[in-house]
Amino acid sequence: MRTPVIAGNWKMYKNIAEAVDFVEKIKPIADKAAHCEVVIAPPFTALAAATKAAKGSKVKVAAQDVHWDKEGAHTGDISPGMLLDAGCTHVIIGHSERRHDHGETDEQVNRKLKAALAAGLAAIVCVGETLAEREAGQTREVLERQIRDGLAGLTPPEFSRIMIAYEPVWAIGTGRTATPEMAAESHRQIRDLARNEFGEAEAAGVRILYGGSVKPENIGGLMAQEEIDGALVGGASLKVDSFAALINFPR
Ligand code: PGA
Repeated sequence: MRTPVIAGNWKMYKNIAEAVDFVEKIKPIADKAAHCEVVIAPPFTALAAATKAAKGSKVKVAAQDVHWDKEGAHTGDISPGMLLDAGCTHVIIGHSERRHDHGETDEQVNRKLKAALAAGLAAIVCVGETLAEREAGQTREVLERQIRDGLAGLTPPEFSRIMIAYEPVWAIGTGRTATPEMAAESHRQIRDLARNEFGEAEAAGVRILYGGSVKPENIGGLMAQEEIDGALVGGASLKVDSFAALINFPR
């Protein structure tokens, strides 16, 4: 039985006061939601305040990126230890906006992932094809490469501490959602790949979240798919009402 996860990726939105206000309002809603886990990913500047506000509640706090080194001359980067220090339990790794805006590679995703896991963070690793790749029939190949290279060298126990977010790039922030069937097909492929790499029990247990224009109106159809174990949500996670509706998705 895989417990669903509803995760909000705030990207570059919300200052500290807005983040704290959001956490205060979402806490009672998350605490009542026995059916799922709730994660929010504020920007770096609001992490410490958000984790303080979330303390003692079901709301878990994720960072949106991490560096693989413990410390060093890396202007603008944040280490796994710094995220722990800010109270984070989770980190998003390999989001397509990092891959495309910052040229992040699968090899870098892998280094970040290993460092995050070694520090004791849980990771949400993002994979997904672009529109051109989907239209060229390369979806499976892209997912295969991202899983194989991004998760390379993980032990099965390490693998069991990650979640995978399938986010087709053409569906992110565009209002174009993959149909529940399309998403489920990619999720099945990802689970098959995980089975080959990490084993039957690990593949059966890994939560695979869907991301890309998830909103209260379409989450029911997505979550009705056996293969979809939750959602990584950008735009619709920014308002308390809509995030609350996502947490309480139709069941
Ligand atoms: P979106 O973003 O829900 O705004 O499409 C999802 C994501 O990028 O994680």
